[in-house]
Amino acid sequence: MANKIIGKISHGLQGELIIPGDKSVSHRSVMFAALGDTPVHITNFLPSADCLSTAGVMQALGAQVDFLGPTELIVKGNGLHGLQEPATVLDAGNSGTTLRLMMGMLAPQKFVSVFTGDSSLHKRPMGRVIKPLSMMGANIVGRAENTRLPITIVPTAKALEGITYDMPVASAQVKSAILLAGLFANGTTTVVEPYTSRNHTELMLESFGVKLGYQGTAISIEAQDKLIAPEEILVPGDISSAAFWLVAASVIPHSELLLKNVGINPTRTGILDVLQAMGADITLQNQRNSGSEPVADIFVRSSKLHGTSFGADIMPRLIDEIPVLTVAAMLAEGKTVITGAGELRVKETDRIQAISDQFNKLCPCIDATEDGLIIQGTSPEKWHQATCFSYDDHRIAMTLAVAGMAGQGVEIENPDCIDISYPSFYEEMNRLYK
Ligand code: S3P
Repeated sequence: MANKIIGKISHGLQGELIIPGDKSVSHRSVMFAALGDTPVHITNFLPSADCLSTAGVMQALGAQVDFLGPTELIVKGNGLHGLQEPATVLDAGNSGTTLRLMMGMLAPQKFVSVFTGDSSLHKRPMGRVIKPLSMMGANIVGRAENTRLPITIVPTAKALEGITYDMPVASAQVKSAILLAGLFANGTTTVVEPYTSRNHTELMLESFGVKLGYQGTAISIEAQDKLIAPEEILVPGDISSAAFWLVAASVIPHSELLLKNVGINPTRTGILDVLQAMGADITLQNQRNSGSEPVADIFVRSSKLHGTSFGADIMPRLIDEIPVLTVAAMLAEGKTVITGAGELRVKETDRIQAISDQFNKLCPCIDATEDGLIIQGTSPEKWHQATCFSYDDHRIAMTLAVAGMAGQGVEIENPDCIDISYPSFYEEMNRLYK
C-alpha cells in the first residue's frame, strides 16, 4: 500500500459530484430484503467493502444476492422465518454496522452463528449489543466477558422475550439490533435513546409493512409473521461522504461545488447545522424524496468560517463527521469546542486520539479532552506539510486528504482504507483538481 501524496490546492474546487449511495441505508437494504420472500431491486447501492461484507453475510444465510452492476442488485430472501444456518463463520470485516445489526437478527434464530471481523472490529465494544440481547434471553458468548469478537450465538430453547431497554448511549446500531431481535420476540420490545440516532432502520422497517410505536425517543416493535418487501429500494447519496466536500469547498478559497443526490434525513444533517452556524455558504436545491428518505442537491461555496461549540445533543446527528469538521474548525476564526463526543474513542480507531496526534502535525492547534476536542483556528499559511497515518480508518484518511488540499499538502500512510465507505474518493479528488 503506497503512501498517497496530496498537494496543496492552488485554486478552488469547482464542479459537480454525484454523491455515492448511503452506507447505512445500503447495509439495511440488503439485510431487510433478505427477510422478505419476493425480489427487491436495489439501486444506487454503495459497493464499498463494508456493504459488501453485509451482502456476503446475507448470502451465507441463504439469501439470493445478484449484482446487475456495481450499484444495482436484486436480493431475494426466504421469508422472515427462512434464514438458514451458515456453513461458515460470518465475516463482518471492518463493519460495526454489519456485526451489530446481524447479532440482533441472528440472536433469535434456531441455529448457531459465529462472527469474526478484522483487527479493528476485534477491538470494538460489542457488550452494548450483547447485554440487551441477553436480557431478552439470547445466549451469546464472546471474548473478554462477552464484549469482543469472536462471538458465537447459541440457539435457546425458548423464544426471546420483549424488553424495555434504556440505552445508556445513543446508537443506531444498538437500537437497530434490539428492534431486529424484537421482530422475533414475544410481546413488545421497546428501546429508549437519550437522543434520537439515525432512523434508517425504522423508516425501512415501515416500508416493509412493520408498524412501529413512537413516544418521545422510545420506539416499540412487535413480533411479525412476515415482512412485505417493496419491489424497489432507491438508496440516497451519503451525507457522510458529502461531508468531505462540504468542508473542502467551504475552506478552500474560490470553490463552488454542486453535490448531487445527498440524503438529508434530519437524523443525519448535524453537519449542515454546524457548518451553517460557522458561517458556511450552503444551499439546498431540488429537495425531493428518494424512496422513504429525503434528498437534495447541495450547493456549497467557500466562505470565511468562525469557531463554534456543540455537544452531546447534536452528536448522534453528526458523529461520523467530527474528523472533517475538525478541519473546518482548524481553518475557522477563533476557537471551536466539541464536547459529548466520547463515542469517537470506540469507532474504527480512537478518533479523538487519531485527530489530535495526526492533525497537530499539520498545525499544532488541537487539544484532545476525554470526550471531545478544543481547536484554535489558524490560517493555512501557518500549516506545515507532514506525513500522517490513517490508522486504516477511512474517515481519517479522507479527512487528511481534505486537510492536505486546504493546508500545505500531506502524505497519507495507509491511504487505501477509503474503500470501506467511498472507493471513488481519490478519483473524484483528482478530477476536481484539474
Ligand atoms: C451507523 C451508526 C453509527 C455510525 C456508523 C453507522 C449505522 O454508529 O457511527 O458509521 O449505520 O447504524 P453507532 O450506532 O455506534 O453510533
